[in-house]
Amino acid sequence: MIEIQNLSVKYDSQIALENINLKLEHPSLLVIMGPNGAGKTTLLKSILGLVEYEGKIKIFGKEPEESRNIIGYMPQRDRVNTNIPLKVKDVVLMPLLSRYYFGIRLEDVKNAKRALERVGMLHYWDKNFSSLSGGEQQRVFLARVLAQSSKILILDEPFSATDVATKMKMAGILHKLKREKTIIIVTHDVNPLVECTDKLLLLRKRVIAFGDVMDVLNEENMEKLYGVKVPIVRRENVCYVLGGDVHVHH
Ligand SMILES: Nc1ncnc2c1ncn2[C@@H]1O[C@H](COP(=O)(O)OP(=O)(O)OP(=O)(O)O)[C@@H](O)[C@H]1O
Ligand SMILES: [Mg+2]
Repeated sequence: MIEIQNLSVKYDSQIALENINLKLEHPSLLVIMGPNGAGKTTLLKSILGLVEYEGKIKIFGKEPEESRNIIGYMPQRDRVNTNIPLKVKDVVLMPLLSRYYFGIRLEDVKNAKRALERVGMLHYWDKNFSSLSGGEQQRVFLARVLAQSSKILILDEPFSATDVATKMKMAGILHKLKREKTIIIVTHDVNPLVECTDKLLLLRKRVIAFGDVMDVLNEENMEKLYGVKVPIVRRENVCYVLGGDVHVHH
């Protein structure tokens, strides 16, 4: 379970997050949406203990700094140097390696292969990572997180460079995983995830709305969030954002 109380983050004098409160059950899937610069990545980094913050964050009762070994993190793609002179297998195995002083275990190799297979990239096992396309690299990064078998997954825009089929496939993987894990995903396109999202957080420095998708995803909240009208289509017990990828610049 993740509990956040009165969380605020400042960079120098600039406020990035102000008085965030939320509570997330385990297992569950949380989607975070908001405009560029809204503090989404900053919120993830706070949960990971990678930025200084004011307030309280508890992850199964522990501090973020004490919880790193139970969290798998996929950083935002444009912040990561993807010119890595490694093979695909090494990229996936690397986080597993650092856990043991006596090198790679057969089980780690199995986990890495299974994860790559899940994202449809196992045939690239021996390929140079830097030769892959952007979307393929993205899939390998997802496999890297999956292979760690963490209790909590934190994914910052995991779909950003991927095609529609890959997005749907990734959403399907996450749908299965959320039965046993807590998954937090930042995305500008909530549509592939609508059916498996337990809680939706609309963030713009502060919490604009937080709750069940059907309660939170409405035109009034979207206008508060992005400052423009974004049409929502409602159908029985699902709703979708028309135009899909909401990515409004300020
Ligand atoms: N290391 C940093 N030093 C100073 N300011 C920062 C730093 N990281 C983020 N900021 C600022 O904090 C604000 C929130 O940034 P953050 O990266 O959390 O936004 P975001 O919601 O993830 O945006 P995007 O959708 O573009 O990824 C921005 O105004 C940004 O300029
Ligand atoms: Mg970000």
